[in-house]
Amino acid sequence: MPDGMNINYDGLIPNNVDLNADQRVRKALETWHPGYIDWWKDMGPIGFQESLVYLRTAIGVDPKGWAKFDYVKMPEYKWGILLAPAVPDRKIPFGKHKGEPAWQEVPGEYRAMLRRLITVQGDTEPASVEQQRHLGATAPSLYDLRNLFQVNVEEGRHLWAMVYLLHKYFGTEGREEADELLQRRSGHADTPRMLGAFNEATPDWLSFFMFTYFTDRDGKMQLEALAQSGFDPLSRTCRFMLTEEAHHMFVGDSGVQRVVERTVEAMKTAGITDPYDIEAVRALGVVDLPTIQKKMNLHFSLTLDLFGNEVSTNAANAFNAGIKGRYREDKLEDDHSLLDATYPVLRCIDGKLVEEQVPALSALNLRLRNDYVQDAGTGVVRWNRVIEKAGFNFRLKLPHVAFYRHIGEFASIHTDPEGNILSDADWAAKKDEFLPNDADAAYITSLMVPVAEAGKYAGWIAAPKLGIDNKPGDFEYVQIVA
Ligand SMILES: [Fe+2]
Ligand SMILES: [Fe+2]
Repeated sequence: MPDGMNINYDGLIPNNVDLNADQRVRKALETWHPGYIDWWKDMGPIGFQESLVYLRTAIGVDPKGWAKFDYVKMPEYKWGILLAPAVPDRKIPFGKHKGEPAWQEVPGEYRAMLRRLITVQGDTEPASVEQQRHLGATAPSLYDLRNLFQVNVEEGRHLWAMVYLLHKYFGTEGREEADELLQRRSGHADTPRMLGAFNEATPDWLSFFMFTYFTDRDGKMQLEALAQSGFDPLSRTCRFMLTEEAHHMFVGDSGVQRVVERTVEAMKTAGITDPYDIEAVRALGVVDLPTIQKKMNLHFSLTLDLFGNEVSTNAANAFNAGIKGRYREDKLEDDHSLLDATYPVLRCIDGKLVEEQVPALSALNLRLRNDYVQDAGTGVVRWNRVIEKAGFNFRLKLPHVAFYRHIGEFASIHTDPEGNILSDADWAAKKDEFLPNDADAAYITSLMVPVAEAGKYAGWIAAPKLGIDNKPGDFEYVQIVA
């Protein structure tokens, strides 16, 4: 087998990094392990820890058959450390070290920068598990419950992936960071998670689907950028994480689509023609399309904040250093150093949105965000096809990038979802039309009743077209043990 294809399942920590030959790291991870299990029990999914969940577990890193499915109790899930196979003679693909051999050890001058990037990425993984921990109690089906738990255990594994890098390559400081990753708490007043969107509540299942569609997709973009890294262990780690990440976005994409399907189906059956007749639609026990739009507005804008400032020296430095690349750097055709290039940035100048050319190196956060916006648009097209096919005159739309922002160029202004600047007074008056308000939240909460009978779905969401692992419609994805 090629390097990195063998997984050792014998020890406490399944891995393809030959932990047995690295007693120091192995011991460090085995010491970290009990704290992780305590964290999982304290902050992981509430309940269901004794239940048997039909989960996939990574058993290899071959793209053609890397996972197996079986019933597992979540605390017994095999959280392994898996790196994508090494690319022989890999070179640093961008920045000022472009063309030099990829680093197998941390370059001293970039140690702090790398540690920071790995810690921030690592922090998002347990954060999302914490945000989603209440959702098991209101799952609309066993299928959805299983998908939630699949996402949760894999975010746990992504934490392991980052913790491995910290322990292996960053000495005492790495160990301290790894410990702190288990101490911060999403939404905590004193010890919050590091990034804003990961301290927001995920109060209901529509939020969960929006989160996995929009926010896990930010994860994908960050992982794509780090997969290009000249620091080879980080690149290989992120490449394998991306394999799992695809399912998280599928859960969100298909989740929102199933909500839309159910809504338009119920409207059609009831003979409702006006999608804005919210009262009539809600009387059917489904989520009206304008509320779906509001949820999108919220999750999209919160996620855009994760890309940071449009113009950023940190981003320029990380690229220049060969640490964090662009989306699909290896597919781009330019000089991969960007020293002479410029890039257009939409800025807020004297109360107006104006496009300005800035040095491309300093605009890399924005560039990644632009790639994200394009990627995030693809699902919206699919959702709209469902609405169009049902014959309704309504289209979902990503809000303007300036809408409801808290970081970057637009943090100091208010706009409507079209990007028109609003006064503070206008914003205060109209905010409830753009973002979910208390009444919307109360209505959605009222729909969140659990359905735990195999093959049955809550009334506000359609059944999926296909089962997980080709299982039949009435498959018992979770064997619930109270
Ligand atoms: Fe993740
Ligand atoms: Fe994810």
